[in-house]
Amino acid sequence: MEYELQECVTGTICGHTSYDLSKPDPWVKDIILRLTPPEGRVIDLGCGLGRHLGPLYNLGMEIYGLDWLDQSIKHSRQAPNSGLILADMAYLPFQDESFDTALAWRSIYFQKLEKIKSTIKEIKRVLKPGGTLICSCRSRTNTLYFVAREMGEEIEPDTFRLDDGIDFIDVCYHFFSRGEIQEVFSGFRIETITELQLKHTRYTASHPEFQNNFWVFTARK
Ligand SMILES: C[S@@+](CC[C@H](N)C(=O)[O-])C[C@H]1O[C@@H](n2cnc3c(N)ncnc32)[C@H](O)[C@@H]1O
Repeated sequence: MEYELQECVTGTICGHTSYDLSKPDPWVKDIILRLTPPEGRVIDLGCGLGRHLGPLYNLGMEIYGLDWLDQSIKHSRQAPNSGLILADMAYLPFQDESFDTALAWRSIYFQKLEKIKSTIKEIKRVLKPGGTLICSCRSRTNTLYFVAREMGEEIEPDTFRLDDGIDFIDVCYHFFSRGEIQEVFSGFRIETITELQLKHTRYTASHPEFQNNFWVFTARK
């Protein structure tokens, strides 16, 4: 079955994906399970359709989903969870040191760099001391980086607005190098970082010569 959800947003649905958003990414559950204390408190930032909520809830975690799209939150209600929050991840409506783990999976880079930096500060604020961030960010070796340079508007270095009226509707992507990840997340201690191919979107799948590369990393507060 094909699921259709925006690959990113600026408040509207924009673009469709062909990866199955009902199934958790295999890495996510394993990494979280390894790094979160039993019954730990986890926030899924940019939870989308909520594909990671149910599996983590069923493992006994207290798992909250946050997204700034109404339709994501409505859809996520179908997954078992401990709570859903409609909010922008750059302004987290939580007290300091509330969570053991924050997950930002394919979700933090739909904004300009300054706002990404504000989001990172917020994530650090709401994590408990020793808490973990699990994150994936689009790499500059990712297909879309080349597409964006061809047909997007570069609104600041390595950040592009894409709008072709079909696959991309007013969407903003920032692409990272490894060095930039290390610099921008330097308030954390990066424990593992690797470049992985994640599931293709419909657009990238139609260009098999390209790679859907992401920096996948874990970082400790
Ligand atoms: C590509 S989807 C990934 C969803 C989910 N993490 C997953 O792996 O299935 C990106 C999600 O991040 C959400 N998002 C992007 N920027 C956001 C922001 N600043 N605040 C809250 N949610 C955001 C979008 O609405 C969308 O649901």
